[in-house]
Amino acid sequence: MDFKVADLSLADFGRKEIRLAEHEMPGLMSVRKEYAASQPLRGAKIMGSLHMTIQTAVLIETLVALGAEVRWVSCNIFSTQDHAAAAVVVGPNGTVDDPQGVPVFAWKGETLEEYWWCTEQALTWPDGDAPNMILDDGGDATLLVHKGAEYEKAGAVPPATAEDPEEWHVIIDLLTRTVGADKKWTRIAESIKGVTEETTTGVHRLYEMHKNGQLLFPAINVNDSVTKSKFDNKYGCRHSVIDGLNRATDVLIGGKVAVVCGYGDVGKGCADALRGQGARVIVTEIDPICALQAAMDGFQVTTLEEVVGIADIFVTCTGNFNIITAEHMAKMKHQAIVSNIGHFDNEIDMAGLSRTEGIVRNTIKPQVDEWVFADGHSIIVLAEGRLMNLGCATGHPSFVMSNSFTNQVIAQIELFAKTSEYPIGVYTLPKHLDEKVARLHLDALGVKLTELSKEQAAYIGVHVEGPYKSDHYRY
Ligand code: NAI
Repeated sequence: MDFKVADLSLADFGRKEIRLAEHEMPGLMSVRKEYAASQPLRGAKIMGSLHMTIQTAVLIETLVALGAEVRWVSCNIFSTQDHAAAAVVVGPNGTVDDPQGVPVFAWKGETLEEYWWCTEQALTWPDGDAPNMILDDGGDATLLVHKGAEYEKAGAVPPATAEDPEEWHVIIDLLTRTVGADKKWTRIAESIKGVTEETTTGVHRLYEMHKNGQLLFPAINVNDSVTKSKFDNKYGCRHSVIDGLNRATDVLIGGKVAVVCGYGDVGKGCADALRGQGARVIVTEIDPICALQAAMDGFQVTTLEEVVGIADIFVTCTGNFNIITAEHMAKMKHQAIVSNIGHFDNEIDMAGLSRTEGIVRNTIKPQVDEWVFADGHSIIVLAEGRLMNLGCATGHPSFVMSNSFTNQVIAQIELFAKTSEYPIGVYTLPKHLDEKVARLHLDALGVKLTELSKEQAAYIGVHVEGPYKSDHYRY
């Protein structure tokens, strides 16, 4: 088996944590039971690009239990948990000397070159074969396949320009080496039946590609299952934003002024958690609806420029770019903490910061850097501006990821087993499946659901067994 992880001897520790996580992931475990006999993913060759954590290990082994062949990478250079990666490679029945699990190409602290090399490896099936499904988080795997196929069709890879970000140069280098006569990327694109996308940012990319007529295969938007974005993005971040701050800095949050940029699902979770710790939380927003929500939830809402000099902690949650600029950072208080929990690192202008005259970077520990300005004051930047909950801590806990990943497994089955029902386009899962995912998590929390009577169901115009809401209901 080909694979590349940091240290296979961590597999035993990883396996112990996977065992504990399985108990906390009732949705995934019940899907394993439900489909054990029918094996709906037999024949599926799934390339996964999603943070290689303990929770993801349970997802991967669920896909395998349903019959799939899988190859995996992380979707961020800092988010791999090395013991999880090792345990997945060794597998539940293998040993360090005889690994029998799944090929994983991921370790914590990859360079950008290594990151894209790993993505290519996981897309390269042995014996010249190709994957037929992608499970993506943020859309990097989908992007590589689309760009490779596009440039093969055009017959050339356009060079990157000086204005392009560093990462684009890395991608162009990789494609220049691999776009070629054997039409590798075209073959992969043609063999993919579909992609299931985990996060807001990746979903934006998919809708854009579809709108521009560039999407080459159908996609399921897993993010907008209610049991994903209204749980993982919100309650997951409510947990892991504090975890990231604590593990990185251990600064006391109570009494501090914290600025949350963006009051979408992630921002709502972060603002709530910071307030829970006793921080005075200020929100920035561009959308009047979300701004009004934040105000009515009791937060001050203003612009970053107004508060940049008085806040102690900054968290960007927008999925947009250039939210905190180098000029903002220069005006911050001494030792202000600057972090991003959105998908990509361009929410904070790290390139601009590093070009600031006289600036010195002083690494405190991995993923925690003090940047000292020429006047002697400094700021603390977490995870080099990449998502801090996965870079500085271990991301979301198992229970909330069980909701997200049960949606992922159901979406993979839908696209793989019912391909003809999904012409090229971007779809969300039907509400009855969303409700099913929620239902699978109730017992573990001791929730007793009230049952509708037939008369009540008729009165509100639903079936006793659901779905209980119309598609436009917003939760
Ligand atoms: P969302 O679309 O619900 O929220 C983003 C909010 O930011 C919106 O309300 C938008 O109006 C606001 N916004 C946009 N530009 C802004 C600006 N210049 N200033 C202030 N506010 C601005 O998206 P969601 O689901 O909250 O996701 C946000 C990001 O977090 C995405 O990149 C997503 O992929 C990522 N994400 C990260 C997770 C993690 O574990 N780190 C988990 C889930 C999502």
